[in-house]
Amino acid sequence: MTGPVREQWLSRIGFVLAAAGSAVGLGNIWRFPYVLGEQGGAVFLLIYLVCIIFIGYPVMVTEISIGRITQRNPVGAFKALAPGTPWWIVGAIGVLTGFIILSFYSVIAGWSVSFIFKALTGFPVGAEAAGEFFVGHITGVAEPLIMHFIFMVITAGIIAAGVVKGIQRVVTYLMPALVVLMLVVILRSVTLPGAGEGIAFMFTPDFSVITIDTFLSAIGQAFFTLSLGMGAILTYGSYLSSKDDIPKSSLQVIFADTSIAILAGFAIFPAVFAIGLDPASGAGLAFITLPAVFAEMPAGEFFGFVFFLLLSIAALTSAISLLEVVAAYFIDEKGWTRKQAALLMGAIIFIVGIPPALHAGVLGDVTIIGMDMLDFYDFVSDSIMLPLGGVLTVIFAGHFWGMKALTDEANKGATGIKVGNWMAPFLKYIIPIGVFVVMVVGVLGRFGIELF
Ligand code: PHE
Repeated sequence: MTGPVREQWLSRIGFVLAAAGSAVGLGNIWRFPYVLGEQGGAVFLLIYLVCIIFIGYPVMVTEISIGRITQRNPVGAFKALAPGTPWWIVGAIGVLTGFIILSFYSVIAGWSVSFIFKALTGFPVGAEAAGEFFVGHITGVAEPLIMHFIFMVITAGIIAAGVVKGIQRVVTYLMPALVVLMLVVILRSVTLPGAGEGIAFMFTPDFSVITIDTFLSAIGQAFFTLSLGMGAILTYGSYLSSKDDIPKSSLQVIFADTSIAILAGFAIFPAVFAIGLDPASGAGLAFITLPAVFAEMPAGEFFGFVFFLLLSIAALTSAISLLEVVAAYFIDEKGWTRKQAALLMGAIIFIVGIPPALHAGVLGDVTIIGMDMLDFYDFVSDSIMLPLGGVLTVIFAGHFWGMKALTDEANKGATGIKVGNWMAPFLKYIIPIGVFVVMVVGVLGRFGIELF
């Protein structure tokens, strides 16, 4: 295929920052702490870490290798490696998942942007008042929609600017800024009186709360937080050169992602315990419990501002990777220009995101299988589509593309740690069977069908 010359990251670190930017997002700072809070603290942490190492690492190496060897978007990549077979459908599921995730992701990111400004004027005191404040915000019509729109415009603008001039430039500034802002919030949180209890909560296991849902949550979270199972990391890998070290880069991305998730716990739980609120408050942890914390802590306006700014930055560097998957598909496969792809697909994703944006307001009564529109999008994408995409990708790599081809590609350019034979049984059998079983049992469980 002829076309414009494919861009490449200016350096390996450019790729690592972009991939870490993709990985570190709402999943780390909004979702990870609340799931940890709901699923028994340290037990969940343990299961999650096991999933990251034995599922996340092999899947990440596989996606990057497929992207790099083909230099294509997910659909084109599977077509190139398995011409004339239906494997391209795995890539297509990924592109579709990109639409769905980004559409609700941008809605939540939009709340975060609103809260940057709301923090400055101070949040109401007490968990109940903070809850009403949040509900007041999300039941609105204009503000959630406008913020979702603005967030999509910024995301599309960055993608339109290109891989190097858009994505790489933005992450080079924003990722260090994110870490600094995070440290500011942590310093405040851990120095509040009574903070120790919050740290103890993160590291004291409560085995009584483990159910199959704990495993489903940990697996879903592992895929979501590392941006795996839908081709985002594959697409970023397609802008890598064969000189770059895949195992090392993967480990760095995973280390950055896990560190930020745990640091988010350090930023949140000590403060929540210090003010005496409930750590298991679910999805409202960042938007209800934390504002209540900021309302009572000294200089809370400032720290609230910093927190929502960092949450918005983290969301933005993930959102661009989601849109890049969709854009790369239209650029490579349909011959669109980057600007056309970014702007048109950005607009469509904005529209797809209208139901979740209004899930609590105008569409407050609309539910699908008992879930509101936001939970429904979230559930379909990360409990079904990401694990499914991940399972199909490893089956493809382990059984069709072949372990030899995968290992050769993954180790090309690797100077230190190399991909070893231990990965073969994981990619071929353990991940597909394990993830599939947990997914089916877990999903049936959500429908009230208990197999165990
Ligand atoms: N990893 C991102 C987060 O943790 C979400 C994401 C999922 C981004 C899939 C890209 C692809 O918030």
